[in-house]
Amino acid sequence: MNKTIFITGGAGFIGSHVVRLFVTKYPDYKIVNIDALTYAGNLENLRDVEHYSNYYFEKINILDTDALERCFVLHQPDSIIHLAAESHVDRSIVSPLDFVYTNVIGTVNLLNTAKHFWADNFAGKLFYHVSTDEVFGALGDTGFFTEQTKYDPHSPYSASKASSDHFVRAYHDTYELPVIVSNCSNNYGPNHFPEKLIPLSINNCINMKPLPVYGDGLYTRDWLFVKDHARAIDLIFHKGKTGDTYNIGGFNEWKNIDLVKLLCKLVDEKLKRQPGESEKLITFVKDRPGHDRRYAIDATKINKELGWKPSVTFEEGLSQTIDWYLQNTDWLKHVTSGSYQHYYEEQYTKR
Ligand code: NAD
Ligand code: TYD
Repeated sequence: MNKTIFITGGAGFIGSHVVRLFVTKYPDYKIVNIDALTYAGNLENLRDVEHYSNYYFEKINILDTDALERCFVLHQPDSIIHLAAESHVDRSIVSPLDFVYTNVIGTVNLLNTAKHFWADNFAGKLFYHVSTDEVFGALGDTGFFTEQTKYDPHSPYSASKASSDHFVRAYHDTYELPVIVSNCSNNYGPNHFPEKLIPLSINNCINMKPLPVYGDGLYTRDWLFVKDHARAIDLIFHKGKTGDTYNIGGFNEWKNIDLVKLLCKLVDEKLKRQPGESEKLITFVKDRPGHDRRYAIDATKINKELGWKPSVTFEEGLSQTIDWYLQNTDWLKHVTSGSYQHYYEEQYTKR
């Protein structure tokens, strides 16, 4: 094994795609998935790779310093790709402290453990922190977030991610810990937990349930297919410059209402519904407090320096994603049983 990599949050949406890519592409790497298996973490996401001999799983909460230390001693990692986080804005509005614990304190715990374990001998080591474009705040009708854009988070989620980014950079500047940070736009694709706009809309649309659109529906996001994010992480991990930041985006802005209409059209075609039938499910609901109007990433740096660009168009990616949900109804059933029903009730039926 010529590298041992800890991937935190590997049972979640993006993490599972990163784990799959690394386990299958790099048989010489030992990949250790560290995940607490919260409501968002699901080992079913990794069924197809769990038998690989270079894949290991450790059920650990990153707040548990002792367990992390034992895991470092056992597996001797030389790199960490850190994705574990509480990731949903609406949940952060209800329970901000959960986001402080995992996203801020959990990240500092991991930084401390890495620093301590690597004993300040950082040659060949890397702490790669995966973050979001939401740390930059909201854009008006024009402009893009670059790597130089000042942080201006508005939700407890984005504030906690911004804080974790600052800590990662502080460990670089203060202790010379080799770090890289990437800030990515909204992801979509298979295995996305159906609390976020796209998987929730697909799930509801398939089941002929209302499609909740917040406020006037004119909020804009820049959507990237999750496998393209995983490819970007692979490139940055191997070729990125230590101490640097990389923005990753889809060059693909959509107003929420237009996106939901496109999704309805694709579902109508796939399920042989009358054109326009699914659109009737669109329901405007009360807005999210502190809702950022527009996100858009300028991904010129990663394109120019590392040659990365998205590989699928939005229509292709969305169509593949809807197909995946139509083919994986058991996965959907499992993740939407139990606590999901309670969440849905609190979030949507009491608005
Ligand atoms: P997710 O919610 O699907 O998965 C998070 C994973 O982290 C889950 O497997 C969960 O069990 C695990 N986890 C949560 N708390 C933990 C803890 N205390 N200890 C150990 N494991 C814990 O999230 P995601 O959408 O896959 O996002 C992954 C990362 O990418 C996050 O850091 C997020 O901020 C970032 N990101 C997400 C997006 C997006 O659109 N989803 C975009 C840019 C960046
Ligand atoms: P979301 O998927 O939660 O991602 P984020 O808030 O991190 O960008 O939301 C994407 C956009 O969709 C955002 O503008 C909020 C909006 N939205 C709805 O209109 N309805 C919904 O049910 C959800 C979950 C989100």
